[in-house]
Amino acid sequence: MPDRHKQVQSKYTADRNMPGAFEGETVNRRRFMTATVHGAGAVAATAFTLPALGFALGPIFSRLPWSWQAIGKPSDFVETTYVIKVITIVEGIGEAGKSIAYVRTRDPAIDTEPEDQYNHWIALSSRCMHLGCPVRFVAAAERFICPCHGGVYDFRGMVAGGPPVRPLDRFYTRMNKTTGLVELGPRYSVNSELQRFSPRDPGEPLDGIGQYLYPSRFDTAKRP
Ligand code: FES
Repeated sequence: MPDRHKQVQSKYTADRNMPGAFEGETVNRRRFMTATVHGAGAVAATAFTLPALGFALGPIFSRLPWSWQAIGKPSDFVETTYVIKVITIVEGIGEAGKSIAYVRTRDPAIDTEPEDQYNHWIALSSRCMHLGCPVRFVAAAERFICPCHGGVYDFRGMVAGGPPVRPLDRFYTRMNKTTGLVELGPRYSVNSELQRFSPRDPGEPLDGIGQYLYPSRFDTAKRP
């Protein structure tokens, strides 16, 4: 049978015969000092851990800035070949932040993906979708060739041979009605049906389950 009149333990250390007890104390000095040292240790650890964590993880959650950059007049581009344009992909780091884009006018006869305000000009990234080497457009063959492992892309940037896992990335383009210039915006990735996705890295396929296995990085996820 349970003991209903269980003796209530005294809150005083002396009554409980604790070592080092003093009359009138509810916590002995050893326990008090132990708790104080542990608390101080926790505060010190937090003080140097949190800033380091913030420094390391902060960039993951900040979106990279992007802007529209003018690349020329509409008459600078044609349907039948690509024009090379030097573009800035990372601001503020000079030449290291520059790359090139291959740009042509949209040709409804071959560009069968849905037309909208962002693809009146087709702008392809020069980065190979195998491991990222710069591809070169060979006008005579109407192919993009990657010198690293023999990747080949057709005139539209679709994979025609070799190890690349998806078509060449593209850039949004638009007409600036105020300046009358064609502008190039942020990069996006496409699958083999030229559906748009947030930018992925080379080597990340987007067909089928690939789009879920290789989600975009948080800092580049939001686009027009
Ligand atoms: S990096 Fe282009 S084929 Fe390997």
